[in-house]
Amino acid sequence: MRAEEIGRLKEVALGEVKAAKTIQELESIRVKYLGRKGLLPDIMGALRDLPAGERAAAGLAANAFKEELGATLQVRRCELESNRASGPSRLFDPSLPGRWRPLGSMHPVSMVIEETVRIFSRLGFTVADGPDIETRYNNFEALNTPDHHPSLDPTDTFWLDDNKILRTQTSPVQIRVMLSQKPPVRIITPGRCYRRDTTDATHSANFHQIEGLYVDRNVSLADLKGILAFYAREMMGPQVRVRFRPHFFPFTEPSVECDFSCHLCEGSGCRVCKHSGWIEIAGAGMVDPRVYTKVGYDPEVVSGYAFGMGVERIAMIKYGIEDIRMLYENDLRFLQQFA
Ligand code: DAH
Repeated sequence: MRAEEIGRLKEVALGEVKAAKTIQELESIRVKYLGRKGLLPDIMGALRDLPAGERAAAGLAANAFKEELGATLQVRRCELESNRASGPSRLFDPSLPGRWRPLGSMHPVSMVIEETVRIFSRLGFTVADGPDIETRYNNFEALNTPDHHPSLDPTDTFWLDDNKILRTQTSPVQIRVMLSQKPPVRIITPGRCYRRDTTDATHSANFHQIEGLYVDRNVSLADLKGILAFYAREMMGPQVRVRFRPHFFPFTEPSVECDFSCHLCEGSGCRVCKHSGWIEIAGAGMVDPRVYTKVGYDPEVVSGYAFGMGVERIAMIKYGIEDIRMLYENDLRFLQQFA
């Protein structure tokens, strides 16, 4: 095909493109001219059959054809696409109300943890962290819990292998921290814990604790009582009462359990406190000298207290949640109340 003919064909093709009404139409025009078996490749292929004197001009014309057609196709495609999108639905109506986006909220467990960390930070505690998968040593042995203790039983604890478990308490973080630093120590440790408990209104196989540890010289049980009472008032308000009951934990001596008066019924008795007026919030005590020897601290020199609080328990009395399972079901109707 000679240069003039190519030029005429180009005008036809460009006319077709400009007249196209749909993207599909455009696409078939593109295939017709530029496709692998289209007219242009044909023309290009036939160039060499032309007399030598006409070949160069025809070549230039074919290239121009290809380029202009490509560009025109693109322009027309943009036009068609923007037409398609510019129906009445695209008109901007400033009088319409804005689109409502649901507002997220903190989970009550997170709120209790954040608030607790805030309270203890003011008292000089820093946050320490430990892994959910713990060693048998850190979770039990270093905490003076002998191998025959019932809490090691596979019916109570999730064992991963002979030496690894899902931690049953945040107390092993005490060990990690004391192994890694010299006294004084003043830490708070929020985290997940795992026990093979059958789920009911007050038990869950996965729950949260906040551990505290304070080791220095001349720390006494009175300091422990003072700090837990202070925490209770900050967390629950000035009306809360706190009581300590003697207890036993392998890693503290003496050991206590700490109850808060029930925030919901103010001590008169309700479902949440099982009609006792009190809720057990924390285990605590003076760190047992045997624990110090495991971490290389001198029990003749240092003394300290530790405590482990149940986060869900605190959330339940603070927010009046009657069933611990509500904290894990992620029912939006429940969660949105905390927004
Ligand atoms: N780890 C104990 C538990 O899960 C709670 C506890 C008791 C923590 C006494 C302590 C402590 O730090 O001193 O039941």
